[in-house]
Amino acid sequence: NLTTQLAQVTFDGPLLNASGIHCQTKEELADLAATSNLAGIVTKSATLLPRTGNESPRYYDLAYGSINSMGLPNLGYPFYLDYVQQETAKPTILSVAGLSAEDVLEVLMDVQDSDYQGITELNLSCPNVPGKPQTAYDFVATRKLLERVFAFFTKPIGVKLPPYFDLVHFDQIAAVLNDFPITHVNTVNSVGNGLVVDVEKEQVVTKPKGGFGGLGGAMILPTALANVRALRQRLNESIAIIGTGGVTSGADVFAHILCGADMVSVGTQVIKEGLGVYDRLTEELQAIMAEKGYESLSDFRGQLREL
Ligand code: DHB
Repeated sequence: NLTTQLAQVTFDGPLLNASGIHCQTKEELADLAATSNLAGIVTKSATLLPRTGNESPRYYDLAYGSINSMGLPNLGYPFYLDYVQQETAKPTILSVAGLSAEDVLEVLMDVQDSDYQGITELNLSCPNVPGKPQTAYDFVATRKLLERVFAFFTKPIGVKLPPYFDLVHFDQIAAVLNDFPITHVNTVNSVGNGLVVDVEKEQVVTKPKGGFGGLGGAMILPTALANVRALRQRLNESIAIIGTGGVTSGADVFAHILCGADMVSVGTQVIKEGLGVYDRLTEELQAIMAEKGYESLSDFRGQLREL
């Protein structure tokens, strides 16, 4: 039994797509609806206006992960808001991003006024829009934005966070988030502004921003696990955690849950392997659980041992 709960919504299993992965178009979203062992669908982060995103090449596959600088290509929020109100195959998470606080608030006001009763996720951490900082690295700006959101927003909403690398920063972001009725945090977004060097060509591998881009995949697993663990140790119990980052095996899913994740999402490995990855990860997770004698995710969630 792999069922799990998030914001009073029951999911058949722990696995989600990472936002941005195969979830931008109607066709891609239909593929996700038909994917077995994918328990819910997260939309591409939607902005007020449609965007074509950054220039290509803007995604590059590496042996140890990926680098991307997509720049928020999406069809504009009305498309995704309409989609989540139509979709019935599985629960949805509507991801929303903005180029400014005003943009975000305008989108969220429409979500509030719509018939959508599902979960929304406010992306505070896109690293790839030139000139726009990642909101969640500014704790004062994050608090101010959440104050404005919760002045009118009464539906289930969580936040997508960037990775933090200093224990004091975990204390600081948790202190902000614990003051608001958020349903969940999704941690981590890509590790922002890495740089991959092609030594043979003496050149970068992606075009936008001179080659700087968000890192994902196996290389970020320890960072993702640290963020899940550190936030689980600091956030109110009422705030669930979606663990994102570095999952390539069922053991990695198990590790995320052991660190405290309620659900786990998969990005880079879907690009590498296709949507069948969710079946493989589920089989591997179930094999590990069977060997250890665990019957449900709650048997080991958050139970990571220290030395
Ligand atoms: C993009 C990347 C992100 O990490 C994110 O949170 C939102 C958008 C992008 O480049 O499209």
